[in-house]
Amino acid sequence: MLTTALKHIAFIMDGNGRYAKKHHIPTIQGHAKGAETMKSMVRLCKKIGIEHATFWAFSTENWKRPKIWLDQYFKLADHYLAKQSEVFFENEVRFKAVGNLIQLPLSTQKLLKKLEEETKHFEGMQVNIALSYGGRDDLARAMTHIGEKIKQGIISPESISEALIAEHLDTAGLPDIDILVRTAGDQRLSNFMLYQLAYTELYFTQTLWPDLSEEEIIQIVKDFSQRERRYGNYLDAPTS
Ligand code: IPE
Ligand code: IPE
Ligand code: MG
Repeated sequence: MLTTALKHIAFIMDGNGRYAKKHHIPTIQGHAKGAETMKSMVRLCKKIGIEHATFWAFSTENWKRPKIWLDQYFKLADHYLAKQSEVFFENEVRFKAVGNLIQLPLSTQKLLKKLEEETKHFEGMQVNIALSYGGRDDLARAMTHIGEKIKQGIISPESISEALIAEHLDTAGLPDIDILVRTAGDQRLSNFMLYQLAYTELYFTQTLWPDLSEEEIIQIVKDFSQRERRYGNYLDAPTS
């Protein structure tokens, strides 16, 4: 086990398209390569004792992409969910999907539910896949939910707290994300988990997602363990 302080790692899996371009292969094959990388990262996280790993696979903004790409992408997603899910069983990993899931194709929704159901008894580690996920959308859905509860008299406006908001987000019950890794060089969040990332350590690498190696992740985890997390406080309060 490498670290106990790192409970939750998240990945913005970017660069599949650039990988395909670089290797002169169809775009969708870049995503297939990316899915393989995801599987090896799940294995690695389990091996090094990380309890939660969240992988962002599709954003609310990705719906803007051409229909032909969307069709291919979800066909591939269905294939992996139906036929390539052994990584969860072999490693006894609980699977959870987060995001605005009702926007997904019905076939994908069914496969996600099935995998959640079949892995729900595993206790060692949880993998969250964010699909049709956007941070602003997550917050908006949470606000709707809270608003409904206020309307029904279940809670009062005064009872809204940081914790109550967190309990209505897709990530309710999960530990805070300790480190977020974004591959492929862009240094932005692209609307990922805006509320949840308040004190997350950020790590940006030039490596394209399909090229991400176990060695690099181990290096990132080591880098994380060297970081000083102060949360606004002093580590050593000044004496004068
Ligand atoms: C990331 O790959 C995965 C998504 C579905 C968004 P991209 O398709 O964004 O890859 P690049 O950024 O074009 O290389
Ligand atoms: C972010 O990547 C979304 C995922 C990796 C799922 P994008 O490729 O969609 O982000 P932008 O367009 O570069 O901001
Ligand atoms: Mg991209």
